[in-house]
Amino acid sequence: MSDRRRIYLSPPHMGAAERELLLEAFDSNWISTVGPQVNAFEAEFVELLSCGHAAALSSGTAALHLALVLLGIGPGDEVLCSDLTFAASANAIVYQGAVPAFIDSDRASWNMDPALLAEELDARARRGRLPKAVIVVDLYGQCADYDAIARACARHEVPIIEDAAEALGADYRGRPAGSFGVLSVFSFNGNKIITTSGGGMLVSQRADWIARARSLASQARDPLPHYEHSAIGYNYRLSNLLAGIGRAQLRRLPDRVARRRAINAFYRAALADLDGIEFLPEAPYGRSTCWLTCITVDPSRFGATAEQVRVHMESHDIEARNVWKPMHLQPVFRDHAIRGGAVSEDLFARGLCLPSGSNLTEADLDRIVATFRSAR
Ligand SMILES: Cc1ncc(COP(=O)(O)O)c(C=O)c1O
Repeated sequence: MSDRRRIYLSPPHMGAAERELLLEAFDSNWISTVGPQVNAFEAEFVELLSCGHAAALSSGTAALHLALVLLGIGPGDEVLCSDLTFAASANAIVYQGAVPAFIDSDRASWNMDPALLAEELDARARRGRLPKAVIVVDLYGQCADYDAIARACARHEVPIIEDAAEALGADYRGRPAGSFGVLSVFSFNGNKIITTSGGGMLVSQRADWIARARSLASQARDPLPHYEHSAIGYNYRLSNLLAGIGRAQLRRLPDRVARRRAINAFYRAALADLDGIEFLPEAPYGRSTCWLTCITVDPSRFGATAEQVRVHMESHDIEARNVWKPMHLQPVFRDHAIRGGAVSEDLFARGLCLPSGSNLTEADLDRIVATFRSAR
């Protein structure tokens, strides 16, 4: 074991402003799920992203769940979902008793392959079994190819839910991530580009849906003096304390994106001479935040597998992580349909996420690269 400080994959990056707004919320005694910081966080989020309306929630998973509830998705309905993603994207489908089916990635962005999606929708239309929605994930800080995806979905009138949990600050043809779903979702989990410790945001151009989301997130209490409920609700609102942290974090978003992109550029230059290392491509249609810098390792050319590199880095107290294990390979989704699957399997087998936190120092980056290079 190294005696040096551990380097994490993507740790929180806090500052004095976060502490100040957190304490301001604390001192105001609005420490629960109602308060001025929550309202201001929503308003500032909408302003920054031009995303219409926003409901601040306790997690990205809660935001996904409410998106499905708002679209009326229920038992037995089918929902298509990106195959290469974190399980939360698909779990929310199952919360509603609906059935996920998965679409493989393309190699241009590692996101949902629009051609496979179109094939799947056409095939389902022929069988009279269109899905109720498609959850499209913006993976590792980069938007999916929405022109082609929206065309395929519009042809069959299937709504898109955009899971932009990993892509706050990215854009696609000049439009921000979160603009492409009828409902879109962000996460402020501790490892994200900005964090509230835990939290999420549900956004939509439809004011009525977001008002409904706020109500559902507060146990769906009817507007009466006594406790009356005409719908099943949830306890999904974001705490006012955490919204204070979120406001301070949001102000730093442009710097955080710039830093993550600079880290990505650093790795590309520092590892450029190594045979068998390829980077997750930045698709020409947009600007990635480079939330995580991801690579694939060809062991026959590099001289070690991605897993050997990960273990080697771990032995030097540097956290690298496997690329997401595709949903169709997860024991819990074993029996679910998948269109394609070879690309996500390959990315999982050969992929590695490198430390990408915006608070990495130049010395950290040099240490990571030197350790990486000694993995062979
Ligand atoms: C793609 C994706 N979707 C959903 C989530 C869930 O967000 P949360 O952890 O805030 O519930 C995450 C990350 O955590 C994610 O990476």
